[in-house]
Amino acid sequence: MAPPDHTVFFKRSFSKMDQLATPFLTGRRLCRQLAQVVPRGTNGVVVELGAGPGVLAEPIRARLGPDARYLAIEIDEELVAHLRAHKPWLEVVHGDVADLERILDDAGIDQVDAFVSTLPWAVFPQALRMTVMGVIARRLTPEGVLSMIITWMALPNRVRDLRALLDAHFDEVVETATEWRNPPPARTFLCRRPLPRFNSLDERDTRSAS
Ligand SMILES: C[S@@+](CC[C@H](N)C(=O)[O-])C[C@H]1O[C@@H](n2cnc3c(N)ncnc32)[C@H](O)[C@@H]1O
Repeated sequence: MAPPDHTVFFKRSFSKMDQLATPFLTGRRLCRQLAQVVPRGTNGVVVELGAGPGVLAEPIRARLGPDARYLAIEIDEELVAHLRAHKPWLEVVHGDVADLERILDDAGIDQVDAFVSTLPWAVFPQALRMTVMGVIARRLTPEGVLSMIITWMALPNRVRDLRALLDAHFDEVVETATEWRNPPPARTFLCRRPLPRFNSLDERDTRSAS
């Protein structure tokens, strides 16, 4: 029998800790919170970033209407194989979010109604964060939402930088209370109404980060 989600992720974390950032999967409560940005019964497009072995797949799927599209992007080949074996209904893309624009184009996706992210943003280089955030803000519908998790393992200065980047791209950024029962404790950023002016901010941020 193939290993369950937690076992495959825990094993993978020994060789890929830089990419996975934690040996633990997001707990059930936070998964539910992250998935709640998907409107119940939606027939829109949902894109999950950093899907891992698929711990968010069922909470998201439970909210989808019959004509919805749910794309899950994951960089790690073993986790992708696990996803494909255990969630055959899921549209899995083996890829790097650095290529998010191309991945969406290849999938024929123009606009996204909800991005759900458990990517390790805090360890991403600033240039990569800016690239990915720019694509998210450009591709979200005006009513669309990004939900993303930040754990307490993230260094405070990295979280501050990330918060500034979110504020530069979204009209509304709401930070939830910390879920202390999550291993590790974590909170969620909920970002709405992408700003039309984020492109120029990208350029300014690139200059100040270099
Ligand atoms: C903290 S884990 C989250 C796993 C799972 N979704 C969860 O909530 O427990 C981060 C995931 O993002 C993936 N990841 C990291 N960098 C990535 C990248 N550049 N592109 C796509 N996926 C990436 C990792 O392989 C890992 O599965």
